[in-house]
Amino acid sequence: MTPLTASDKAAEFAKGLEGIIAGETSLSLVDGKNSQLYYRGISIEQFVGKSSFEEVVFLLWNLRLPRKEELERFKSELALHREIPKAMYDWLATVPKKAHPMGVLRSAVSQLGLLDANGDKIDNTNLRRIALELTAQIPTIVAAFSRLREGKAPIHPDMKLSHAGNFLYMLNGVKPAAQMENALDTYLVLLADHGFNASTFAARVTVATLSDMYSGIVAGVGCLKGDLHGSAVQNVMEMFLEIGAPEKAEAYVKEAFAHKKKIMGFGHRVYKDVDPRATAFRGVAEALSNVKGGEKKWVQMAANIEKAVHENKKIPCNVDFFSSYVLYTVGFPIDFFTTVFAASRISGWTAHVIEQLSNNRLIRPEAIYTGPTNETYVTIDKR
Ligand SMILES: CC(C)(COP(=O)(O)OP(=O)(O)OC[C@H]1O[C@@H](n2cnc3c(N)ncnc32)[C@H](O)[C@@H]1OP(=O)(O)O)[C@@H](O)C(=O)NCCC(=O)NCCS
Repeated sequence: MTPLTASDKAAEFAKGLEGIIAGETSLSLVDGKNSQLYYRGISIEQFVGKSSFEEVVFLLWNLRLPRKEELERFKSELALHREIPKAMYDWLATVPKKAHPMGVLRSAVSQLGLLDANGDKIDNTNLRRIALELTAQIPTIVAAFSRLREGKAPIHPDMKLSHAGNFLYMLNGVKPAAQMENALDTYLVLLADHGFNASTFAARVTVATLSDMYSGIVAGVGCLKGDLHGSAVQNVMEMFLEIGAPEKAEAYVKEAFAHKKKIMGFGHRVYKDVDPRATAFRGVAEALSNVKGGEKKWVQMAANIEKAVHENKKIPCNVDFFSSYVLYTVGFPIDFFTTVFAASRISGWTAHVIEQLSNNRLIRPEAIYTGPTNETYVTIDKR
């Protein structure tokens, strides 16, 4: 028996697949060296304040920007699919109120797959239909659960509002102020896609077996749920609240470093210098702190944490650091933050599923075996 060892495979082995090229994509480029992220070649800061989530979704699914009338048509089409089946509202009403919203979303996507008579079909037309429905419906599921959990009736979608505006309307029960709607729209734009991040990779691995779109998205949601990926956005605001006041930030950070505890919202596998999304969110968070409903305290807290982290180690803040405060200000309960991340990333996940299946190859790496070798089977009576 001659298993592969670490030295045999040294050239190809990287723990956590760090630095390994595991496939191709034409959707987004994560340029860690130059601290840039591009959607179809356009750097993400160019979208801020000019584009909309709907436009970015069109771009990811059609590989080009829409013309004016195409965008209007696409917005209406997406809006028309916002309503969820009655069976979904009924099920959401039975979910334990303490269940984590990401667990609820994971199960909800799976159930939508069961309710879809063509859910298992993976031809291009069907994949695109499911992509449209899931992207339109995830906000409805998220907002409905948030209200049901508080003993309130869900609010049905308003097809006349933008994707972001309707999301906040279904969540809070009132039409949002323009600044809040724009802040959420920017969040959705900036989180839409990010190369072969863990949840996107999980979705691609799943559908590469020729499993279905829903299974791929369930894998993506489950993967995003982890602390080292999507849950950091929730953990950041929890940290802010735990610290309580900006002047206590320095002591908190010192203590965390002394105990080798990771500070949420800092560090990134690819961006070792600056996360370009964090730069964009810094501006959004500062602007929000000046409007009605915003609080300067959290921006000051963020600045103090950042300064204290850099005094200990040069680790840049990441996408979740300032965006956590953005989601807090627009009104999401803290444990729902990662579901908002999912409501954005669904556009990227579905685009990657379509891309994977358009030129598929089973994704199946090898492992270095570290267990015993040449053992002899001992019958049960002799053990
Ligand atoms: C994102 C993350 C998983 C990247 O991990 P990675 O590429 O494997 O980087 P490592 O964990 O190996 O970190 C490298 C070094 O920086 C330190 N470091 C990284 N992130 C840190 C953080 N948030 N707080 C404190 N130290 C951190 C590590 O302790 C390690 O130090 P060492 O070399 O002395 O052991 C990691 O930075 C992290 O856990 N961050 C906090 C969670 C988070 O914000 N996630 C959202 C990502 S968008």
